[in-house]
Amino acid sequence: MNILVTGGAGFIGSNYCRLVLNRRPGDCVVVFDALTYAGNLSTIEDLERNERFRFREGRIEDPGAVRRVLKEHRIEAIVNFAAETHNDRSLLAAGDFLRTNVIGVHVLLDCAREAGVNRFVQVSTDEVYGSIEEGEFTEESPLQPNTPYSASKAAGDLQCRAHFVAYGVPVIVTRGGNTYGAFQYPEKLISFFTTRLMDGKKVPVYGEGNQVREWIHVEDHCSGIDVVLRNGRPGEIYNIGDRNERRNMEIVDVLLDELDKPRELVKHIPDPRKGAHDKRYSMNADKIRALGWEPAVPFDEGLRATIRWYEENEQWWRAICAEPEYQAFAQAFYGPGLGDDL
Ligand SMILES: NC(=O)c1ccc[n+]([C@@H]2O[C@H](COP(=O)([O-])OP(=O)(O)OC[C@H]3O[C@@H](n4cnc5c(N)ncnc54)[C@H](O)[C@@H]3O)[C@@H](O)[C@H]2O)c1
Repeated sequence: MNILVTGGAGFIGSNYCRLVLNRRPGDCVVVFDALTYAGNLSTIEDLERNERFRFREGRIEDPGAVRRVLKEHRIEAIVNFAAETHNDRSLLAAGDFLRTNVIGVHVLLDCAREAGVNRFVQVSTDEVYGSIEEGEFTEESPLQPNTPYSASKAAGDLQCRAHFVAYGVPVIVTRGGNTYGAFQYPEKLISFFTTRLMDGKKVPVYGEGNQVREWIHVEDHCSGIDVVLRNGRPGEIYNIGDRNERRNMEIVDVLLDELDKPRELVKHIPDPRKGAHDKRYSMNADKIRALGWEPAVPFDEGLRATIRWYEENEQWWRAICAEPEYQAFAQAFYGPGLGDDL
């Protein structure tokens, strides 16, 4: 099968390409990526040597570019990871989120329909459900997104539904939990805090750090997406969750212990997301388990392995942290004191 992996130069997409190339000898992978701040050729450098792999630069909201890549590579399936993904950035400026996560998804779906693509997997997030105090979200739970990011992802999911109902595009939506692992851009909780702590810098914890997230290792998230691509039913939605609920502060404690750093490096700051900061995410994943999927990476092992990965791959993340774009965002969001004296 020839698979177009949009957003494949980012965190989860690049890990997905690795999984397909390793486990599916009959498949070819074409990454189509705009190389925004979050997409880096260094993230897919190891894949470039594989003869079943190709890279094409382009934006998913550009119909001409999408049509060309679908035709040129005789694409049979699309897995769409391309998105603006950082909640905090969406609070500063949401324009790019709407352009990519809504218009981009619409354009991709239109082009998939024209080209007669056999499968389209839209990679979405548990954040579209909003926050839940008790119990778990199922695929039938209402969409109650609370940030411009999660609202744009919910809008993308609804485009998928509409294209399935109105035109019969064979689209399936996955909703994954908070994902961690190798190659995550150093702006999300685990990657940001690990890299800062390695340098002995303070880490900003919103409020008391009591927000609960459901974590899943990137390899488990990717194997879930792959199961859905091959065995899922068009028109359906599948949650991909691993029931690892942790308070943010519990994660920070593990990072401090593993990196042998003092608690003084934790700085509690007022929550910039205010009312938009979801307290708890939790999903029921029985539906995807019924397809034969189950997660393989225990959380504590996965977290420790991820910390070791950042220790062993300093070159990768240091090059990113040195980019002016990275510095500019950090200062705009956390203030000019983001340096050692955060
Ligand atoms: N990271 C998580 O915890 C998580 C959890 C659940 C779901 N998701 C979803 O998984 C997908 C991938 O997330 P990630 O964390 O790997 O993101 P990421 O930010 O690491 O990567 C996004 C990739 O998309 C590319 N991109 C952005 N806009 C584009 C455009 N207009 N056209 C083409 N490419 C574009 C970027 O260059 C980058 O390579 C997203 O759709 C996200 O909503 C992420």
